[in-house]
Amino acid sequence: LERLKKRGKRLPFTAVAANRADTISVPAGYKATPFIPWGTPIRGSFPAFLDNAGNSAADQADQVGMHHDGMHFFPIDGQRGGGHKSDHGLLVLNHEYIDAPLLHPNGPTLVDGKRSSADEVRKEINAHGVSVVEVRRNRGQWEVLPSARNRRITGATPMQISGPARGHALLSTRYSPDGTATRGTLNNCSNGFTPWGTYLTCEENWAGYFASGDAERPREMTRYGVGSASRYGWDHLAGDEFQRFNATRLAANASGDYRNEPNHFGWIVEIDPFAPEAAPVKRTALGRFAHEGLVFAPTKPGRPVVCYSGDDSQNEYIYKFVSRGKYIPGRSNGSLLDEGTLYVARFKANGKGEWLALDIRNKSFQAACRAAGVSFADQGEVLINTRLAADIVGATKMDRPEWGAMNPQNGDIYFTLTNNTSRTVVDAANPRPANAYGHIIRWREQSRDHAGREFVWSLFLLAGPEDDSLDPNGRPLTADNRLASPDGLWFDNDGRLWIQTDMSGSQLASGPFGNNQMLVAEPVTGEVKRFLVGPVGCEVTGITATPDFRTLFVNIQHPGEGSTSTNFRSSWPDGAGRRPRSATVIVTRDDGKPLL
Ligand code: FEO
Ligand code: CA
Ligand code: CA
Ligand code: CA
Repeated sequence: LERLKKRGKRLPFTAVAANRADTISVPAGYKATPFIPWGTPIRGSFPAFLDNAGNSAADQADQVGMHHDGMHFFPIDGQRGGGHKSDHGLLVLNHEYIDAPLLHPNGPTLVDGKRSSADEVRKEINAHGVSVVEVRRNRGQWEVLPSARNRRITGATPMQISGPARGHALLSTRYSPDGTATRGTLNNCSNGFTPWGTYLTCEENWAGYFASGDAERPREMTRYGVGSASRYGWDHLAGDEFQRFNATRLAANASGDYRNEPNHFGWIVEIDPFAPEAAPVKRTALGRFAHEGLVFAPTKPGRPVVCYSGDDSQNEYIYKFVSRGKYIPGRSNGSLLDEGTLYVARFKANGKGEWLALDIRNKSFQAACRAAGVSFADQGEVLINTRLAADIVGATKMDRPEWGAMNPQNGDIYFTLTNNTSRTVVDAANPRPANAYGHIIRWREQSRDHAGREFVWSLFLLAGPEDDSLDPNGRPLTADNRLASPDGLWFDNDGRLWIQTDMSGSQLASGPFGNNQMLVAEPVTGEVKRFLVGPVGCEVTGITATPDFRTLFVNIQHPGEGSTSTNFRSSWPDGAGRRPRSATVIVTRDDGKPLL
C-alpha cells in the first residue's frame, strides 16, 4: 500500500542545472550554508584559523581537519547520546587526506627533494583522521559548542587492535611488539555507524603512506600496493613518530622495526563519540583492504548483525560480515564485530549471487586454498591478506566499489561502482568495458535477516551522458540527471537514495556533467534529479541528517583541487582571493520544513 501511495509521486523540487560555478547551487526554496571548514577551532586553546595557513601542528590538533568525507549526526537527548532530538548532537566526520600546497603557507618544504620540517609533517598527520564536534541549533542557526566531547582523532592517536588478527606476529612492531596496539588512522573515506551508537571510520588508500626499501616485499604489501616511495614523504624524517612510515626491514626481527606497520592499516576503526577518553579500536574481523565505508543491514534482536563494505580499487570486491554473536538491544557493543564470518560476493550472470566465506574453518575455503597453492597459518593471516583470500575463492572483480547504502523501506542494499577504465573483460554486473562513468548495483538477500549465502541482484543505474547511460526505468539519463563517477550513497528514512559524485580529470574539466554534484533518486518511481552542484574542483562526499530531516549535512571535499600555494583554483567558501577549504554544508528549506 505504501508503495502504491508513493508511485507516481514526483520529487518536489526543480532540478539544478549542471554548471561550473564556484559556489553551491541548490533548488529554489533551499539554502546551503558552509559550516566547520578545515581549521575551525573546536578544542584546547581554540586556536583561530590563520588565513595564510600559518597554524602550527599543535594548532591543527585542536582544529577541524582537512578534506571532509564520511559523516554522521548522533543526536543528544539531555546529557546522553541517543533519542531523536534534532537540535543538538555530535557531528562526527572523516578527514580523508591533505593537500600539502594548501596546508602550509608556501606548500611543503623540501631539501634535496626530501621533507625537512618535523612541524609540517606533524601538521599533516594531525590534519588527517576524524573530528567529533558538538553542535546545537540555536534560533535556526547551527553553532559549535565548546564541549569536552569535542575531539580530534589523528594519524597519531593511540588505538587498540581487536579481533582475530590482534596479537598476530604480522602485527608486531617496535611500538607494539605484541601486536595489540597502534597509532592513528589514515585516509578515512566513507564511514558507518553501529546499532549501538558508535562511529566507524574506514581506512581506504593507506598503502601510499608507507615506503619499503626492501627489494623483496611480502604479499601483505605487494597485493595492496606498498611501494618504494611514500606519497607525502613522512618517512624521510628521523625519529620514531616518522620512521614508523618506513616499512623497510632494519632489525633482526619484526619487533625491532616497522616492517609490519602497514599491516596496522586497511581496517575499520570504531570510535565511541560519547567517550572522549576511550581509545579507538581497529576491528580486524571486518577484513583488511581499501575500505570505503561500512553499511549495516537492518538489525533484529536475537539475530546476528550484518554489514557490508566495498574495496575501492579497480577490480576489487564487495564483502559482507555476519557476526557470530546475536544482537541484543541495549547490551550489544563493538565486541560483536570481533567474531564472525567475512564473506565476499560473486555476482552470477543469471541475476543471482552468492556469498563466499573467507574463513579458515570453512571446507570450501580450505579447498580453494589448496587448489591455489596458497596457505594461511590462521584466521588472522587470512584477514591481513583479505584481498588474496578473495582472489582464491573466485569472487567477482568489480568496477571500484565505493559507498553502500541500505533502503530502510525494504532492506535492499545499493553500492556505487564509481568507474574502472582498466576493465577489458565485462561481466553481467560490470557490463561496460573501460567503464569511465560508473554504475549503481543493488541486491536483495534471499534470507530476510541478511545472514544467508544467496542474493538476487540488478543494475539500478548506468551513469553517463545521454547517449551512454540508463536510468532506473531503462531510459537514457537527461540534462536533469546525467552524472558520472557515482561515489557517496545514502538513503533517507523515506527510502529516497541520495547519490554524490567524484569525477576528476577531463570528465570533471570538460564533460557534460559540470562540477561534482548530488542527486536524489526515488527507487519506487525510478525518478532521478540533480539536487546540488558543488564549487569548482570539489568532490561532494559525506551526508547525514537530523532525525526531523530539517537539516541535511553534506561535505564538500577539496574545492579548488590542483591549487598551488600561490594560485587558488577556487575561493570557496571564504570568498575572493581566499584559500579554498573543505567544509560541511548545511542544507535547509527556506520555510523550515523537512527537506523533502
Ligand atoms: Fe576515498 Fe573511494 O573514495
Ligand atoms: Ca575523496
Ligand atoms: Ca569515496
Ligand atoms: Ca571516489
